[in-house]
Amino acid sequence: MDPQTLTELLDVSVLDRLDRIDELPAEELARSKALRKEGYSAEVTAGLLTQAQLRTEAATKLGPFAEDMLFTRDGLAQATRLPVAAHHARRLLGESAEGSRIADLGCGIGADSIAFAGMGAKVTAVDSDEVTAAIAAFNLRHLPDVSVEHARAEDIDTAGFDALWFDPARRTIGKADKRGSTSRITDPEDFSPSLSWVVDKAIAAKAAGVKLGPALEHELIPDEAEAQWVSHAGEVVEVCLYFGEARQRTGRSALVMAERTLLVHEDDLPDDDEDGIGELGSYLLEPDGAIVRAGLVTALCRPLQARRLHPTIAYLTTDVEPSGPAAAGVRAFEIIDTLPAKIPSLRKELIERGIGSVVIKKRGADIVPDQVRRQLKLPKGEKATLIFTRLGGKHVVLLTNPV
Ligand SMILES: C[S@@+](CC[C@H](N)C(=O)[O-])C[C@H]1O[C@@H](n2cnc3c(N)ncnc32)[C@H](O)[C@@H]1O
Repeated sequence: MDPQTLTELLDVSVLDRLDRIDELPAEELARSKALRKEGYSAEVTAGLLTQAQLRTEAATKLGPFAEDMLFTRDGLAQATRLPVAAHHARRLLGESAEGSRIADLGCGIGADSIAFAGMGAKVTAVDSDEVTAAIAAFNLRHLPDVSVEHARAEDIDTAGFDALWFDPARRTIGKADKRGSTSRITDPEDFSPSLSWVVDKAIAAKAAGVKLGPALEHELIPDEAEAQWVSHAGEVVEVCLYFGEARQRTGRSALVMAERTLLVHEDDLPDDDEDGIGELGSYLLEPDGAIVRAGLVTALCRPLQARRLHPTIAYLTTDVEPSGPAAAGVRAFEIIDTLPAKIPSLRKELIERGIGSVVIKKRGADIVPDQVRRQLKLPKGEKATLIFTRLGGKHVVLLTNPV
């Protein structure tokens, strides 16, 4: 969005129209015609339609806050989900949040700052992009003790803050496609600000957090940090590096935020992989993606009485249905049978069992699920989950039902 369109959108009467846009027909062309008839320019009409659409999409990340916010498509894509932002706020501000001074250096549309301010902190939110900073100022307008600056993080004097929060931009804008989306930057020195600058600042701070993409290589984790991978509602959303008072323990941890919450830490790993590789049991366990990314799969072996099937494949197996807190860290599948991996034999076995619809999962198997489904050409029948993996050196297909 260009600054001119944003200025026009920020007009009180235009914002009021946006808040009441549901009074107009839902269908886009009819809605657009109605807005034009009311006298809005083509640019403002397009802006209103986009904002209405983005508010709807944002509800899954930001709940009811979204109804009162403005967005850019990129800003929404990069925004932290509200429950995860609340977790960041708890880690960074702890018990003494009220009145603490925190700088959000690269605040985007302001999702993390909403959580910091919501806990009573004094927030300085900074973004180097003019439109994004203006949108953050709008989104944070009702919260007390928040100031928003259009500036580069590198130009901010960080002395005097109790905590620093960094969420460096990790996507390039240069290669934007027609829908305005962007592509991922792989070299951390090309993040904005760069990872090395951010880490230096974070190490020097009283408390600091750095949000990064979950694919972060473990070698890049500084010795001073705790690296916590987070999944929310089944999706791995980030790894966050915590420093100083925001750090609980150094090393790697995984936080599963779902119906039940589970925290797994490197210290929970068995000594010397004592739980080892074993025979296929009655259940196959698929560990949560945050646990897999953190390299902590074997930490689940003891609490779930489980073992690995293969040294490099992130599946576990067990003879007992998972229960207790660690069960929140896996999806369990009851194993009905082991079937051959070759398509003609597999097809025959499935048809004999009356199976006509399959969900396909895979780890350690070089297959394309959609292609396999097409090749199987199953007639109508029961539903089942097929898991393509390896047992010892052999490729197998496990016929399962999710527990
Ligand atoms: C990943 S987004 C932040 C998202 C934010 N945490 C949220 O939840 O809404 C990163 C932001 O950093 C901004 N940015 C990039 N380089 C910057 C810099 N050098 N200084 C300040 N902000 C910067 C980008 O404009 C972008 O809005």
